[in-house]
Amino acid sequence: MRQVWIPRIGGPDVLEVREAADPEPRAGEVRVRVAASGVNFADCLARMGLYPDGPALPAVVGYEVAGEIDRIGPGVETLTEGTRVVALTRFGGYADTVIVPMVQVLPIPHNLSFEQAAGIPVNYLTAWIMLVWIGNVHPGERVLVHAVAGGVGQAALQICRWRGATVLGTASAGKHARLLESGVAHCIDYHTQDFETEISRITGGEGVDIVLDAVGGRSFAKSYRCLGPLGRLFLFGVSSFAPGTTRSIPAAIKGLLTLPRYKPISLMNDNRGVFGVNVGHLWERSELLARMLADIIQLCGDGVLSPVIDHVFPFARAGEAHAYLQARKNFGKVLLVP
Ligand SMILES: NC(=O)c1ccc[n+]([C@@H]2O[C@H](COP(=O)([O-])OP(=O)(O)OC[C@H]3O[C@@H](n4cnc5c(N)ncnc54)[C@H](OP(=O)(O)O)[C@@H]3O)[C@@H](O)[C@H]2O)c1
Repeated sequence: MRQVWIPRIGGPDVLEVREAADPEPRAGEVRVRVAASGVNFADCLARMGLYPDGPALPAVVGYEVAGEIDRIGPGVETLTEGTRVVALTRFGGYADTVIVPMVQVLPIPHNLSFEQAAGIPVNYLTAWIMLVWIGNVHPGERVLVHAVAGGVGQAALQICRWRGATVLGTASAGKHARLLESGVAHCIDYHTQDFETEISRITGGEGVDIVLDAVGGRSFAKSYRCLGPLGRLFLFGVSSFAPGTTRSIPAAIKGLLTLPRYKPISLMNDNRGVFGVNVGHLWERSELLARMLADIIQLCGDGVLSPVIDHVFPFARAGEAHAYLQARKNFGKVLLVP
């Protein structure tokens, strides 16, 4: 099999393709021949040595793949060889062959391509947990989505539209026209505009009901101040700790020092909630994740949700995929194909 390795901490060009023997599934596992693997911002953080949850390097990262089962291990009765599936992998998804416990594998409908399917798990599960499972977004509510043109951002936009909520989003200016066309009510260019001031202006001082913030640092405190009564703030990432493609310790320290502290009495009196979400820490709850993923796949199959695939890079150009994401060029999901 072929795998994309991160051999050491570094820039996008450290990624390299290596050959290895094909693995065999053990009891309760299946082997998937991968057609497409999802690329996530966390993979870039792992490459930069900025991801405490990442595997020790050298390593093969990758949380999600889509492909076809070509071998099943003993005791697997619910899945068969030849089934088209999507799978959660932690880690090892940057490979043309993966071994996965059957509980992390779900069949996909025929009207979904492998590329669309590989773009579903991480982005949609993250957005689903925040907006549906915990956040219970209501029709007519206003939701501020940071990096709304990104992978999680696009999943969040679609879930909000399905639930009848209004999305306000931050993104680089070049993406605004397409975002407005795809249903974002107001776009804020976070490079040139202060999003807190803009949210206050747009909402006439009322604030929003939900904020999804993976920027981190100062942004968390500002996002909290954007909430109206009964507002929910979700903290799920720290992109601002990694402004470039190589590790910057000063940027990470600055980010840590500007993190806010939330006070229980203020939360009570403000009628606001602050939630942290890390899908990677829910791996022990694979059955619950699979249940949510099944609902998401059903909605994708029905055309209610529709993964936005931006760019597909071959394994040999995996470094370019990381650089593309970190240069803020993507609109939706970036994938690797063997
Ligand atoms: N906690 C969890 O379970 C979980 C799960 C998935 C993702 N996440 C987090 O959610 C965030 C989004 O992840 P994603 O995989 O969907 O990536 P993504 O949003 O597609 O990431 C790239 C986009 O983020 C925006 N961005 C903002 N700050 C950036 C920075 N410092 N460097 C590069 N891009 C930046 C850029 O778009 P614009 O400039 O247009 O805004 C860029 O195009 C990341 O922080 C990730 O770690 C967390």
